[in-house]
Amino acid sequence: MKTQPEKIIIFDTTLRDGEQCPGATLNIDEKLAIAKQLARLGVDVIEAGFAFASPGDFEAVNKIAQIVGTENGPVICSLARARQEDIKAAAQAIEPAAKKRIHTFIATSDIHLKYKLRKSRQEVLAIAEEMVAYAKSFTDDIEFSPEDAGRSDPEFLYEVLERAIAAGATTVNIPDTVGYTTPTEFGGLIKGIKENVPNINQAIISVHGHNDLGLAVANFLEAVKNGARQLECTINGIGERAGNAALEELVMALHVRRQYFNPFLGRPTESEEPLTNIDTKQIYRTSRMVSNLTGMLVQPNKAIVGANAFAHESGIHQDGVLKNKLTYEIMDAQLIGLTENQIVLGKHSGRNAFRTRLRELGYEPTETELNKAFVRFKEVADKKKEITDWDLEAIVNDEIQQA
Ligand code: KIV
Ligand code: ZN
Repeated sequence: MKTQPEKIIIFDTTLRDGEQCPGATLNIDEKLAIAKQLARLGVDVIEAGFAFASPGDFEAVNKIAQIVGTENGPVICSLARARQEDIKAAAQAIEPAAKKRIHTFIATSDIHLKYKLRKSRQEVLAIAEEMVAYAKSFTDDIEFSPEDAGRSDPEFLYEVLERAIAAGATTVNIPDTVGYTTPTEFGGLIKGIKENVPNINQAIISVHGHNDLGLAVANFLEAVKNGARQLECTINGIGERAGNAALEELVMALHVRRQYFNPFLGRPTESEEPLTNIDTKQIYRTSRMVSNLTGMLVQPNKAIVGANAFAHESGIHQDGVLKNKLTYEIMDAQLIGLTENQIVLGKHSGRNAFRTRLRELGYEPTETELNKAFVRFKEVADKKKEITDWDLEAIVNDEIQQA
């Protein structure tokens, strides 16, 4: 029997679903750099890619398994359709990891069965069962997803999940593939699964959701209240179409409102014990790295990691914050790894302060790169009263990463 985790498992799919968004393609070295940073961030599982998709994807998953998948590191996972050739490639790619998972999926909604798979429910049931058992011959840790669960007939879903768990699935992931459900519906779906799948306690319930209606994070929080213990998410919420649930938003919602969520995890309301293993101080740095490497810009008003997330512009707000930050801030900028005061450097600042701040932001420039960037910094500082972290990021992009 799978024991239920004490904390919420954070499953990061930036390198798989995140990379599926148009324009976000990453090379192997970039994927490896992100995987290392995800490990520093403290994610429990890294979905490193879709090994069967291309030789490059296979190599990236394999390299991440070798280098990041250490004994104390995260579980390394590869996606695989419910087909033998996919599952075999996934198993080979993750082989070097100390902790490895195969994530296999097949659609269960009638729309997908009729138009995409052209298969009956009975056929899908048999494939799910057979392919989970096949995956289990390579590793114990098996995740099964009924794709488009959000639009599937719940009775059929219960049956598929029961059979997948009986065949060896240790995590059952419930995807809202097209971001269609509302929070109450999604929470109800998880509740229904808990109540109607007889062997559900032998597996961890996971959720995966897209942001087509901007509801993915809200849906996940309802899912947690109803028994979900693994959240599949991406840095900055990147992913197919409107993206996935954003890791930083989920983690900070669970952190800032932990007393609200504690009872749903069977903890005393007042408990200060973190709900996830994430080192929140690594959030900002990870967000910047993913944005820089994928070229996917973060909108200024994006929750948690947007440029304006901790900025106060109006006089009334500035006055309030100067008197007491609690008036307009529900979390400290330092919690996500930003300096408390983002206005730290100006035209009078020296090289040392400049270098120190770059290091705090995760950059290790060589002497030559530093010299170039410092000249540019002084030019910008002459024109701007305030040099923010976002100006520094732009300078680094122009002068260091392209050097
Ligand atoms: O959105 C989705 O359904 C997926 C599955 C492969 C989990 O990405
Ligand atoms: Zn997805």
